[in-house]
Amino acid sequence: MFECPKTYVAGHNGLLGRALLRRLKVRGCANVVTRTRAELDLTSQAAVEMFFALERPQTVFMAAGLTGGIGANIRRPAEFMHENLSMQDNVFEAARKYGAETLVFYGSSCVYPGRIERPIREDDLLTGPIEETSAPYALAKMSGIKACKAYNSQYGKTRYIALVPNSMYGPWDSFDPENSHVLASLIGKITHARERRDKSLTLWGTGEPRRELVYCDDVADASIFAVENAERLENTHYNIGTGSDISIKELSQRISEAAGYDGEIRWDSSKPDGTKRKLLDCSRFSSLGWSPIVGLDEGIRRTLEWYMDSKGERASGF
Ligand SMILES: NC(=O)c1ccc[n+]([C@@H]2O[C@H](COP(=O)([O-])OP(=O)(O)OC[C@H]3O[C@@H](n4cnc5c(N)ncnc54)[C@H](OP(=O)(O)O)[C@@H]3O)[C@@H](O)[C@H]2O)c1
Repeated sequence: MFECPKTYVAGHNGLLGRALLRRLKVRGCANVVTRTRAELDLTSQAAVEMFFALERPQTVFMAAGLTGGIGANIRRPAEFMHENLSMQDNVFEAARKYGAETLVFYGSSCVYPGRIERPIREDDLLTGPIEETSAPYALAKMSGIKACKAYNSQYGKTRYIALVPNSMYGPWDSFDPENSHVLASLIGKITHARERRDKSLTLWGTGEPRRELVYCDDVADASIFAVENAERLENTHYNIGTGSDISIKELSQRISEAAGYDGEIRWDSSKPDGTKRKLLDCSRFSSLGWSPIVGLDEGIRRTLEWYMDSKGERASGF
């Protein structure tokens, strides 16, 4: 059972952070502390120490991080590496020093070698080259995964749990065309085309690559489940996903239907496709008894509804 000891949700204004707040609330967990980035910059070791010394949270969901699309990763590789490394390093060490019971950290599917077309297992980590474009971000995430293992091995008092969710989506995702991930980017472009009554919309690539998408509330539930079942976990990372993937082409059709856009979707195959397939094998985590509950169509519906209601609340270039 998640008995709701004092819980710190780092990055509570982000996609996953907000989902964690929603799912903790559903469970009646009111003992939650949060800080905005302006109140607590997690890259500052002194500020993080002071916060942990004062609040002494027992459970920490480390949902803060610098994330972004390919463009942002290419333009700001040093920031992606430095900020993620320093945030996680500061929070991991303060959690240990001030006696947190459990800390959940989030890796990313880009930690895995880029060319695996079968479902990717946890043991595939560090077995081949990773995608060059996101390498600084991925290396910071790999360090976090390995740090969880190292802290558990050396100290053992605070339980560090490393989860590796596949592409997340949902309300409060970033719809900034420069920064957004695939589903948010398609929702932005398709609703924009519908509003302008465009007869056609051209998207990058062939539409053939396949992606696994997991709704943010499911990842939040998986995180709470992991804390509740911490004693059953091995000292390793766990993949979190739905177990199935969809081509970008089919995804764009489903979003068009949900958004009521009936223009033609064209594909510009002169533009790069990116990784062909990125499906995680999640059997290690699902064998513990967890499974996602929000199907893709329902998730698209909820995300679209939120986007239409709150356009502009989070960065949107459309
Ligand atoms: N989205 C995905 O598909 C995905 C997949 C796998 C793993 N992950 C990982 O899951 C975690 C959450 O992702 P997300 O998509 O929810 O990210 P997000 O929406 O971009 O939210 C990140 C949060 O971190 C906060 N933050 C960034 N830098 C900070 C700093 N220096 N000090 C304090 N707070 C800071 C941000 O605060 P502001 O709101 O003030 O900017 C924001 O609230 C990240 O570690 C990410 O790498 C994400």
